[in-house]
Amino acid sequence: MASLTIRKLDDSLKTYLRLRSAQNKRSVEEEVRVILRALIEPVDPSEPPATAPPPAALPEPGFPQPGAAREARVTLIIGGGIAAYKSLDLIRRLKERHIHVRCVLTKAATQFVTELAASALSGDRVFTDLFDARSEFDVGHIRLARDCDLIVVAPATADLMSKMAHGAADDLASAILLAASRPILLAPAMNPMMWSNPATRRNAATLQRDGVHMIGPNAGEMAERGEAGIGRMAEAIEIADAVVAMLKPPVPRPLAGRRVLITAGPTHEPIDPVRYIANRSSGKQGFAIAAAAQAVGADVRLIAGPVELADPKGVSVTHVESARQMLEAVEAELPADVAIFAAAVADWRVAHEGGQKLKKTGKAIPPLQLTENPDILATISKLGEKRPGLVIGFAAETEHLIDNAKAKFARKGCDWIVANDVSPATGVMGGDRNTVHLLTKGADGVHVASWPIMTKDEVATALVAEIAKKLNKELTKPMGPPA
Ligand SMILES: Cc1cc2nc3c(=O)[nH]c(=O)nc-3n(C[C@H](O)[C@H](O)[C@H](O)COP(=O)(O)O)c2cc1C
Repeated sequence: MASLTIRKLDDSLKTYLRLRSAQNKRSVEEEVRVILRALIEPVDPSEPPATAPPPAALPEPGFPQPGAAREARVTLIIGGGIAAYKSLDLIRRLKERHIHVRCVLTKAATQFVTELAASALSGDRVFTDLFDARSEFDVGHIRLARDCDLIVVAPATADLMSKMAHGAADDLASAILLAASRPILLAPAMNPMMWSNPATRRNAATLQRDGVHMIGPNAGEMAERGEAGIGRMAEAIEIADAVVAMLKPPVPRPLAGRRVLITAGPTHEPIDPVRYIANRSSGKQGFAIAAAAQAVGADVRLIAGPVELADPKGVSVTHVESARQMLEAVEAELPADVAIFAAAVADWRVAHEGGQKLKKTGKAIPPLQLTENPDILATISKLGEKRPGLVIGFAAETEHLIDNAKAKFARKGCDWIVANDVSPATGVMGGDRNTVHLLTKGADGVHVASWPIMTKDEVATALVAEIAKKLNKELTKPMGPPA
């Protein structure tokens, strides 16, 4: 059996895997396993072939991307502090992230690290002198300030921070910082007494007001023996990660200003105060959609049945038990631009809920007479003025998936149906993956787009991308705030 060493893959693949695994909160090895598993998954011949790849299933890996027209460029100013040795490691960490590094050393920095080391690690010339005729002719301090995507100062000494706050420009580092038109990230490092000195506090506040970004300093032991407190430079990896985050283009927010209402999970229909009728829905798909919509700017209102999931960050969640409570909560959140009904709502409830726990009497078994629950999808699809612009239902079927989903589509009056096979063999109920078919209406009837097997997070991202496309094409005006 051949073995695969991820370290030996080419750089673009490694970067893609790293980003994809981080996005899915998995290790790189686990991510590779998921990709391979998806490739060998048996295909049900009764299902229609995958007609369309998932639209925008994954956002493009963030900046910097190997193979991109231009590498990201950082000008790294190394100040004269004892932490300067850590900046040599920072150069390496940035290079690992495919970032071109051009180093500038202050005069004091050359007392702590050598130009040769910075040059060997960065693979470029190192600049130290404002009045070096050759440097000024080749590159010049203005180009060093502008010919990059970001300026990083690590370590940022108390002295450099003071110069920046006061607009000094009497050496190469301070002249670059004053002439900068790019964002600046400082990693301060100094003795705790220097950091807490009111002068440094004032300078730090001025710089933050001026829009300069800062990472650290951290608390801990100082290089000087017996000294501890706040003043340690952030670790090289922390700074490198902050650099990558700052270099990423802002996440597109195509659903900004849109309200998206989502239901998720099962419902519990009480039989008596201690017993209920339930189903196996985990709520994972609905929660994933809520998180994906929130990530692209939507104001998400999630109505969740009883689930064992943490509320997604930044989402307003209402927890309910029964179908009737779910409908009530949905109505309370209207109006909305989009409503996605991913919950597995019980079709029936017990007609006469017991006020007390039903007791074994030794006589006849109590009959459970059922009555129909409100149909949330149909109710909202048929609303008048308050009907959301885009209503999406879910069809969870265990047989004749597409036919049953089409019949549901015709009955409910919604705009789209997401159909998925939840028969036990698929492991969809409670599992992390899903194979879905998106049913939409075209001039020539119902269109079925069958997406390949994906994680529930990927399905969520793809569905949200489709929603954004639809909204931005057809429903151009976001609804106003709720009355
Ligand atoms: C051994 C030694 C360690 C120093 N460490 C720091 C330090 O960690 N942070 C700091 O702000 N200054 C430190 N200094 C003081 C700076 O080197 C000094 O303020 C210098 O002028 C800074 O120059 P620069 O800001 O142009 O790099 C240290 C000085 C010495 C001699």
